[in-house]
Amino acid sequence: MSLHDDFKPVIAVLTMHDNQRGFRGNHQNFLDIIQTGESMGYQVYIVTVRDLDVTGPTVMGYTYNKGSGKWTSQSFPLPHVLYNRIPYREDERKPSVQRKIEECKQAGIELYNPFFFNKWDLFEWLKKSKSTQRLIPHTRRMRSASTLGMVLRTFPYLYLKPESGKAGKGIMMLKFQEKERLPFRLKIQSSRKSTTYKAATLAKLWTRIRRETGHTPYIMQQGIELASSRKRPFDLRVLVQKNGKGQWSVTGIGARLAGSRSITTHVPRGGSVEDPEQLLTELFGEETTAALMKRVKSTSLMIARQVERGSGHTLGEMSMDLGIDDLGEIWFFEANAKPMKFDEPQIRKRSLERIFQYSAYLARQSKR
Ligand SMILES: Nc1ncnc2c1ncn2[C@@H]1O[C@H](COP(=O)(O)OP(=O)(O)O)[C@@H](O)[C@H]1O
Ligand SMILES: [Mg+2]
Repeated sequence: MSLHDDFKPVIAVLTMHDNQRGFRGNHQNFLDIIQTGESMGYQVYIVTVRDLDVTGPTVMGYTYNKGSGKWTSQSFPLPHVLYNRIPYREDERKPSVQRKIEECKQAGIELYNPFFFNKWDLFEWLKKSKSTQRLIPHTRRMRSASTLGMVLRTFPYLYLKPESGKAGKGIMMLKFQEKERLPFRLKIQSSRKSTTYKAATLAKLWTRIRRETGHTPYIMQQGIELASSRKRPFDLRVLVQKNGKGQWSVTGIGARLAGSRSITTHVPRGGSVEDPEQLLTELFGEETTAALMKRVKSTSLMIARQVERGSGHTLGEMSMDLGIDDLGEIWFFEANAKPMKFDEPQIRKRSLERIFQYSAYLARQSKR
């Protein structure tokens, strides 16, 4: 094998076996990954944790057969780089899966995307650096009615979110309006709309919250008055990936405008895909928007570096949700270790190419 910069490593996308579908995860996404990699001259295949035997020399993997339009299984050389796309936290947590990932590292296979993030950990990591501290809304773990009551006194507008949540699942919004007869207002997000519950006392409110959360760990977070357009709040989705030089770089920035009856901006919940520059220009004018977009970029890179430092692992990509308030201040809501597909075609295309550019870098690094 050559050590030249044009060396093309073998890349395997790691996921879980599935009895019905062969393997878990978004098959269309995996197909896009394979086709991009192949068009760039890489050998790429899908491998399940079950099939990945690092003692080699070959492993069974899946590839897509264009002629039949089906996924077919065949034998492949062991990968240099393993792109982790195990889709569920419950799967990734399993000791058998963790053991397999460890074996791969021992065998010298480079792991791209070590694990899912937890929302609470992210805030802990970002709190540790002066540069990122000021970006995070006040956040606490939600453990008792009394701590909730205390936080509400300082921050009468809160978001309650599951630590391991995604796609808006389980999110609630809470307002405390002292002068009202029923001062506690809780908005609970269901699939596309949200329902409001009003309570007279903290005890009643807590009972209702617990009915929603069960024993799932939650965080409570200062609510940010998001900038809005057509009376709907919006936020930014930033994709940050390492490039072919192993440096963090912004792949693209999108915007999501909340659905009219939703407390989040997710598209499956009625939100819409928008152009960030256009939305921001409506509010702040052209000049401020240009400066703000620059600040969003540099801030995202700062966040990525600090998340990586905090996690104690080498990371390769993450998407983040950032809010912009009425004053043009940037707020961090969350980062996802395994970004979902971006709807914007330009961002999408670039994001797929980056996976291979960074994989090539990783493989070169590990050889030296
Ligand atoms: N503290 C907050 N203040 C205002 N809006 C928030 C806050 N936290 C979340 N949101 C809104 O809810 C959305 C979902 O929150 P997020 O933390 O990204 O959870 P999920 O993992 O479910 O996507 C955000 O994109 C944002 O629109
Ligand atoms: Mg989110």
